[in-house]
Amino acid sequence: MTLNPSLVSLTNAAPETLHPTERDNLVGTAVFRSTCALCHGPGIAGAPRLDHREAWLPRLAAGVDVLYQHAIDGYRGEQGLMPPRGGNPSLTDDEVRSAVDYMISRSQSAPPARARISRS
Ligand code: HEC
Repeated sequence: MTLNPSLVSLTNAAPETLHPTERDNLVGTAVFRSTCALCHGPGIAGAPRLDHREAWLPRLAAGVDVLYQHAIDGYRGEQGLMPPRGGNPSLTDDEVRSAVDYMISRSQSAPPARARISRS
């Protein structure tokens, strides 16, 4: 198996340069950075942003298994089109699930959007 290049750079990174969620889930972080960040980083094409806590709450309410299935198989929702495996067919089911886990914990560890707005 060839290691994802971003996983190699993460395992070589100084631990203090990583967010705790990243340290806990290097595979998910690497998959996110290499494939999912394209849409879920800036929140383009209707994709819920990684740090947008509220955008994830109603999705989490559906249960994590639905999120895994939507990420693996793809789906068309009200906001846009989520491509199967984020458009990267070389990802395994487990790698996609790890990226979903990473996105969920990052989104829920971010401060609420309202707190961010009132500080600026
Ligand atoms: C081409 C853009 C794009 C890429 C790349 C992408 N997504 Fe998405 N994703 C979307 C859009 C758009 C939605 C929202 C669809 C909607 O609900 O209308 C979405 C929604 C999701 C959801 C929420 C599912 C639900 O049921 O609410 C998950 C989980 C998800 N993506 C995971 C991933 C993962 C994991 C990757 C990387 C492997 C990834 N996405 C890459 C566009 C993208």
